[in-house]
Amino acid sequence: MSKTYKITLLPGDGIGPEVVAESVKLLDAIAEKSEFSFEYTTANAGGAAIDAHNDPMPQSTVDACKASDAVLLGAVGGPKWDELTGAMRPESGLLKIRKELGTFANLRPVAVPASLAESSPLRAEAVAGVDLLTVRELTGGIYFGQPVGNDGFEAFNTMRYTVPEIERVARVAFEWARKRRNKVTSVDKANVLEVSRLWRDTVKRLHAAEFSDVELDHMYIDNATMQMVINPRQFDVILTGNIFGDILSDTSATLGGSLGLLPSASIGSGVGLFEPVHGSAPDIAGQGKANPIAMILSTAMMLDHLGEGAAATAIRNGLEAALKQPLRTGDLCTKGHTLASTSELGDLIRAETLKHL
Ligand code: IPM
Ligand code: MN
Repeated sequence: MSKTYKITLLPGDGIGPEVVAESVKLLDAIAEKSEFSFEYTTANAGGAAIDAHNDPMPQSTVDACKASDAVLLGAVGGPKWDELTGAMRPESGLLKIRKELGTFANLRPVAVPASLAESSPLRAEAVAGVDLLTVRELTGGIYFGQPVGNDGFEAFNTMRYTVPEIERVARVAFEWARKRRNKVTSVDKANVLEVSRLWRDTVKRLHAAEFSDVELDHMYIDNATMQMVINPRQFDVILTGNIFGDILSDTSATLGGSLGLLPSASIGSGVGLFEPVHGSAPDIAGQGKANPIAMILSTAMMLDHLGEGAAATAIRNGLEAALKQPLRTGDLCTKGHTLASTSELGDLIRAETLKHL
């Protein structure tokens, strides 16, 4: 019997709808050649949901996500909603759905094939062959800690973590390391922050008890951002908290020359949420200029998570083959390349993926 996966699409704002459309075309093409298919429900999120429901993450969207096998999200936010505050901001809709789905681990992999090393702002020889995975804690830390306040004179947020919150995300990092190059770098600010001291002690204790076969080291966040630029090849799996992971993963995205390349998977014990890291890019929205690669790689991560590893591998191999050809969207188009629109590059990646299926 063939399986039908229920996918909730949250195209969101800016370039979100354009890149999600490329993923849907890709999934449908894969389904035609596979024993499984996809059934989509599209729901509003972010600014689009504010316009339609006066709420960046309405309950109807949350319900649709919870009733599906996986969620594909484009991007949220944009200048139109920048004056809004607090829970009315598009970004808080994203935080809400992460919390509602309990996606406590956010995986952000960066691999720089030789074909992209030339586009990097860093020297090609420093970044060629980079292959790292940031595991960012996603439903705790300073993004969610109470109390929070702002009386117009003084404002504060609270960074807090409990041992179980640290352990569950650290387990994800150690398990991924075992499937990769067996090394975890835990990033914190334990020289200053109490919450980081608990983080480091907890990671050490879990490592000794369950993962002593994995190599573990610890780095302060300031040093880690510098190391990411000086010698990114030293990293295999990076384990870190919510805000440090937010910052460090953007840094890691530039290694391949564009934020348009970085996918992510947010996972917990239930439905996973798969989204590119690049955001809504309002300056190029609706013009067919967006790079679909991060969305397409997020889709591959979704397929892996659904247990369709062969299809995920076909996408990655198809992308590699596509990048050996000169077609590039504007963000990566330099000498020797041919400028492609979002859908032209999407078409090429899809055609190459099907050859690898
Ligand atoms: C990200 C984004 C979000 C975050 C924003 C839009 C809330 O920057 O996914 O990295 O900070 O987590
Ligand atoms: Mn971010």
